[in-house]
Amino acid sequence: MDDRPILLFDSGVGGLSVLATVRELLPQASLVYVADSAGFPYGTKSEAEIAARVPALLGRLAERYDPRLIVIACNTASTIALGAVRAALDVPIVGTVPAIKPAAEISATRVIGVLGTDATVRQPYVADLAARFASDCTVLRHGSAALVELAEAKLRGEPADRDSCRAALAGLFDQPGGDRIDVVVNACTHFPLIADELAAAAPHAVTFVDGANGIARRVAHLTAGQDGPAKPKHRAVFTRLSAPERRLMRALARYGIDRLESL
Ligand code: DGL
Repeated sequence: MDDRPILLFDSGVGGLSVLATVRELLPQASLVYVADSAGFPYGTKSEAEIAARVPALLGRLAERYDPRLIVIACNTASTIALGAVRAALDVPIVGTVPAIKPAAEISATRVIGVLGTDATVRQPYVADLAARFASDCTVLRHGSAALVELAEAKLRGEPADRDSCRAALAGLFDQPGGDRIDVVVNACTHFPLIADELAAAAPHAVTFVDGANGIARRVAHLTAGQDGPAKPKHRAVFTRLSAPERRLMRALARYGIDRLESL
């Protein structure tokens, strides 16, 4: 039996959207959910800041929790630092990259929206995905820090602000060709947490896609044959644990997490 945990990492609560699918597919794995609350948000930071912060932090976490696998459940950290983390750590690492390929597979209008953080949507990684998998599509991109904050607030139990949701989506749909978007890639793990709000705020009906299922399948593949404990225990680790993080307790409980600690 392998009772070492699977560690999921994000800047905040976004990675819980990935944790939910991993937990569904692997109910017997113990999970450590890490939110870098002291470094949040990532989306407004420079590449240099993220590249310096994420590998070092994951190194400390790997030492402390001895995970059998790490999921970087954050598009911003993955598109910037995945290579450096893999080079530095001797643990299998699964990253999160914008689901442009699945979006291109289902788009009828051949106009796709990519909604992420500012840092993610400007990455060459995203342009490469678009060129490789959606070369016959127009790929419009938009970065929103407001939607990240909205997801954090929702999980703290605060009411979702519909107007700021609508304003953020206007940055995507008001671009030339935006009226023809039929698929939107949630290229930030926070956004599936406000799926209902996004769907209600979109100016016309669109399909939202994200990478969570693909990640869970990859984790299942890489851990195949490793039996977990009969009663897995999940915990959340915050790099800063103060009053706002403690207000997440109730939301975390819905994901099976009842233990909070700080790094
Ligand atoms: N959840 C993160 C992502 O997938 C980033 C949110 C942030 O810290 O700005 O990109």
